[in-house]
Amino acid sequence: MDLEGIDLARVPVHIACVMDGNGRWAAARGLPRTEGHVAGEEALLEAVEGALELGVGWLTVYAFSTENWRRPADEVRFLMHFNESLLLRRRDEMHAKGVRIRFAGRRDWRVPRRVLRRMDESVAMTAGNRRMTLTLAFNYGGRAEIVDAVRRLVEDGVRADRVDERAIRSRLYFPDMPDPDLVVRTSGEYRISNFLLWELAYSELVFMDVLWPDFRRDHLAQAVREYQGRSRRYGGVVGAAGHSRRIEAGRR
Ligand code: IPE
Ligand code: IPE
Ligand code: MG
Repeated sequence: MDLEGIDLARVPVHIACVMDGNGRWAAARGLPRTEGHVAGEEALLEAVEGALELGVGWLTVYAFSTENWRRPADEVRFLMHFNESLLLRRRDEMHAKGVRIRFAGRRDWRVPRRVLRRMDESVAMTAGNRRMTLTLAFNYGGRAEIVDAVRRLVEDGVRADRVDERAIRSRLYFPDMPDPDLVVRTSGEYRISNFLLWELAYSELVFMDVLWPDFRRDHLAQAVREYQGRSRRYGGVVGAAGHSRRIEAGRR
């Protein structure tokens, strides 16, 4: 990977990717949309490899949104089983590389039981790994995550005057996950599409014109370069006491 111009001491702690453009990649080749998802597997492996090379500790990828159920039934069915088979094909090598696999999203009745079982097996298999945490956002919606957190607040009987950001954050799907420093969206769309709404309050957003199946580790490096050129202010003022230290650390 081309690391030219990247300061390895300031790489993002957490990168999140909206893997978008599979359908358009396939359409451009006269192929069915599902072939775009198939080709996206290579891009996902590239992103994982690139993140490992960069020393990124957390990588989160948007694999299926709570809104993606609106797609034709055939495509939804394909995506469910494709994600299951991808796990079967790839989890051993992920495990060998020291990647901890996790899933963020709702386990509702629409996700086939067999898929849930593969997910649980993969989580259990890799639970002890610490080199990198790969979170697959699957049947994930940012609003759904906040709704689920609020439900838990109510279930826990938290009084209104005790509700603060910490009370909500501690009820998100993974309270131990640092907020993404960098969000990369491919395919030239400039939107968030209900990804990590709470967590990306101060993330740097990089939108790339490449379609996801064409994404390679050098694209990740390019996004990190752009990230390193940004000035993160968190509502403050550059140069003010206590501020530059946070930038140095590359996180919140
Ligand atoms: C992203 O590619 C994959 C998923 C949302 C599952 P798309 O399928 O959204 O591809 P486009 O945006 O239609 O090109
Ligand atoms: C976002 O992409 C969801 C995933 C990448 C899984 P979409 O293709 O579903 O988003 P929209 O519909 O263009 O906003
Ligand atoms: Mg899309």
